[in-house]
Amino acid sequence: MEYFKANTLRIYQDSAPIFNKSNGKLYDSNAAIFDVEKIRQDFPILNEVINEKPLIWFDNASTTQKPQTVIDRLTYFYQHENSNIHRAAHTLAARATDAYENARETVRHFLNAKSVNEIIFVKGTTEGINLVAKSWGKQNIKAGDEILLTHLEHHANIVPWHQLAMETGAKLIVAPVDDQGQILLDEYKKLLGSRTKLVGLCHISNVLGTVTPAQEIVNLAHEIGAKVLIDAAQSIAHIPIDIQELNPDWLVFSGHKIFGPTGIGVVYGRQDLLDATDPWQSGGNMISEVSFEHISYRPIPKRFEAGTANIADVVALGKALDYVQNIGLTAIANYENELLEYATLGLKTIPGLHIVGNAMEKASVISFLLDGFAPSEVGQALNKQGIAVRSGHHCAQPILKRLGLTSTVRLSLAFYNTKSEINHCIKALEKIDC
Ligand code: ALA
Repeated sequence: MEYFKANTLRIYQDSAPIFNKSNGKLYDSNAAIFDVEKIRQDFPILNEVINEKPLIWFDNASTTQKPQTVIDRLTYFYQHENSNIHRAAHTLAARATDAYENARETVRHFLNAKSVNEIIFVKGTTEGINLVAKSWGKQNIKAGDEILLTHLEHHANIVPWHQLAMETGAKLIVAPVDDQGQILLDEYKKLLGSRTKLVGLCHISNVLGTVTPAQEIVNLAHEIGAKVLIDAAQSIAHIPIDIQELNPDWLVFSGHKIFGPTGIGVVYGRQDLLDATDPWQSGGNMISEVSFEHISYRPIPKRFEAGTANIADVVALGKALDYVQNIGLTAIANYENELLEYATLGLKTIPGLHIVGNAMEKASVISFLLDGFAPSEVGQALNKQGIAVRSGHHCAQPILKRLGLTSTVRLSLAFYNTKSEINHCIKALEKIDC
C-alpha cells in the first residue's frame, strides 16, 4: 500500500477529496482545515515561558505534550477508580477493570485491529520489541536464520535483535539506504530470501523523517514467509494506520509519542501468532492455574501482561487516542505536511544550514547541521529563545554513521505547532551566535 500522500511533501489546498489508492477510500480534505489556535488551548504546557520566551516545542519525536483531557483522565482515575484490575469483586476493581479494558478497545478501534486480544499493553516501543524478540524470537529463530533490518532503525529496533542473533547464531542483515535516507528497494529485495525469518522496519525514521515503504516491504516479506515487525513509534501520531490493510505480524508504539503518558505502549500482534507464542515475562495476572508441579497460562492478551499493569496510564492513553481521533489523522497529516514543507523551505534559506535526509516521502522530522556550530551549541542557542529541539545521535547511531555524521540538530513537529513558531526558529537560527 502506498500511504495516502498527505504525509509527504505535498499540500492539499482545495476542498477536493483526497484519494487513498491503497484502500480506495476518499478522505474529506475539509477535515484538514482545523483551528490550530483552538487546539493549542488544549495543551497547558504550551503556555510555559522558557528563558522569558514562550515555549516552542519542536521535540515531538522525542515526546509529545499532553492535552488537558489526558491529564484530567489520570487525575480522575486516581480520584474515583483506583484499584488493581481483574482481581476483586469490589466496586473500584470493577471501575478500574472497565476503564482498562475500554482503553484496550479504544486501541483496537484506533488501529482497526480485528480483536482486542491482539492488543497487549507494555511500557513502550522498546519493551514491545523486546517482548517479540524474547518470546517469539527465542522460540523460533535458529542458527543460520536471518533477521533483516534497515540502516534507518532506532537502537530499540537493533539491540534486541542483535542480542537474539548472538544467542541463537542467527545473522543480522542490514538493508542499505541512499544518501537521502531512502531505503533502496531493489537492494532490499535482493536481501530477502529463504533464510529471512524476521523483518524489522521503522515506519518513519526518527532521525530523518523518511516514511518507509512499509506496505511494500510487508508484502514482499510475506511472499517469502518472513514475519514483519513494524516500529510505529514515529508514525502513530502522524500517519493513519489501518492494521488490517498494512497487515504486519506485529506493530509497536509508545503512548507518550501520541499525546499520552510515558511508561505505556502497545504491541499489536496477529492473534494466531500470539496464541502460538509463550510469554516472556511471568508471574501474577498472566496465569490460569499454578501449582508447584504445573502452571497454565491465561489466553492472550493477558498471558503477555504479567504483574500489575500500568493501569492509570493505559486509561489515559485511551483518552489520548480518542483526542487524536476527534481531530482526525487525515487532518493532522495534512496540516503537518504543510508545516513540514514550510519549515523545510524556510530552513533552506539560512546560509550554512544543511538538511540531512531529503527523502521524497517524509513526515514531521527535519534534521540539520549549521556550519560553524556543533549541534549541541545550536540546541543550547535555541533553548535561550525558548525553542526546544533535540541535538545528538537520536538513539540511532548507525544511520548517522552511514551519512558520515555523529549528531544533528532535529526539529520535529506536531499538530499544535504553527508557522509563526517556525518563523521564530528561523530568525533565531539566522542570528545564532554562541
Ligand atoms: N526515540 C526518541 C527520539 O527519537 C527518544 O528522540
